[in-house]
Amino acid sequence: METAVAAADLVRDIYLAGRDGERPALSTDLTALEAAAREVLAPTAYGYVAGNAGVGATARANREAFDRWRLVPRMLRGCAAARDLGVELFGRRLPAPVLLAPVAAQTVVHPEGERAAVRGAREAGVPFVLSTLSSHPLEEVTEAAGDLPRWFQLYWPSDRAVARSFVRRAEESGYTALVVTVDAPSFGYRPADLDGGYLPFLHGVGIANFTSDPAFREGLGPDPEDEAVTAHWARVFAHPALCWDDLPWLREQTRLPVLLKGVLHPDDARRALESGADGLVVSNHGGRQLDGSVASLDALPAVRAAVGPSVPVLLDSGVRTAADVVKALALGADAVLYGRPYLYGLALDGRRGVAHVLRCLLAELDLALALTGCASVRDVTSGLLDRARA
Ligand code: FNR
Ligand code: LAC
Repeated sequence: METAVAAADLVRDIYLAGRDGERPALSTDLTALEAAAREVLAPTAYGYVAGNAGVGATARANREAFDRWRLVPRMLRGCAAARDLGVELFGRRLPAPVLLAPVAAQTVVHPEGERAAVRGAREAGVPFVLSTLSSHPLEEVTEAAGDLPRWFQLYWPSDRAVARSFVRRAEESGYTALVVTVDAPSFGYRPADLDGGYLPFLHGVGIANFTSDPAFREGLGPDPEDEAVTAHWARVFAHPALCWDDLPWLREQTRLPVLLKGVLHPDDARRALESGADGLVVSNHGGRQLDGSVASLDALPAVRAAVGPSVPVLLDSGVRTAADVVKALALGADAVLYGRPYLYGLALDGRRGVAHVLRCLLAELDLALALTGCASVRDVTSGLLDRARA
């Protein structure tokens, strides 16, 4: 069964169930979930997920960048019967040009955290990227993931022994790519978290990959107090001195494809490839790092032009709907990372909430291809775009 066909079937199934009086448990408008999640989350938890750096200028710019483009659909191309949403990345076929973005400390919003999120992703067939700062060790997340493709996001620790250990563990647990996040030499200035005095990691949430790691534990005495553990984490986690010259070392540690996440400048994109990276994620971290920085969608075309057509380039930051996915693909992305909306689904209904969010997104994407006249994502080109005039 083609996922493409199954994706839009969701819409039909909802209407058919509606004849028996059933309604979807969560809204199918994925932009409505943030407000619903706010109702069920503690203010600190909501603030951590929804919060932005500074005054939120970059988070708004991300949305405005999508809104400045309009789709110009093409008619009568005879492709409405079945679409192919699949894409190939690093020699593997993915069912759709969407992966779950790495998001830290997911037990902040749901007790089952990443385990529930990957189960939901598995139901929808959407691969996920696990954060270094997950609430459960990466091996446990693999158990929950089953055969779902998964990548590991690396926050490069200041201790190379810990970095090496993370890479080994990720390889041994079946993660098939490394996403090195480079836009967070330190966390951004985030008023929501600062006003609440809340950083999950200092409460011991989101540091499971460290506390379960032999190389990390070597730096601690036997039976350390919680405070000693978080203090050691704070020393090892942050690596503000990381620079381009470090990347070849990572390249030597692994044969997995390495993507750099957080690249916005075309010169950095070129430098990434020279330093051994295999792909890029154009991202401003959803506006959580440098407030005032460029919208990632606006940065995408120059990055694509800098690296040429064949290097995998993904985009995140502000992707909310299928139209956003189509616009990102039309401007040069091979796929997108989907972020906050799945966290809201997780907060509202655990595994089911995540599956709901992803099914809705893929159903809408399938319909968007049908309505733009595209038989597959390969047919999405810049010819579908026009600048908004009002
Ligand atoms: C993130 N993001 C992130 N990125 C990363 O590389 N490692 C991480 O641990 C985290 N943690 C994290 C936590 C939370 C609560 C959020 C919202 C985001 C950034 C994430 O991967 C992605 O770049 C953004 O979420 C994209 O923005 P939107 O589309 O979600 O607004
Ligand atoms: C964040 C970090 C963990 O955005 O990436 O909160």
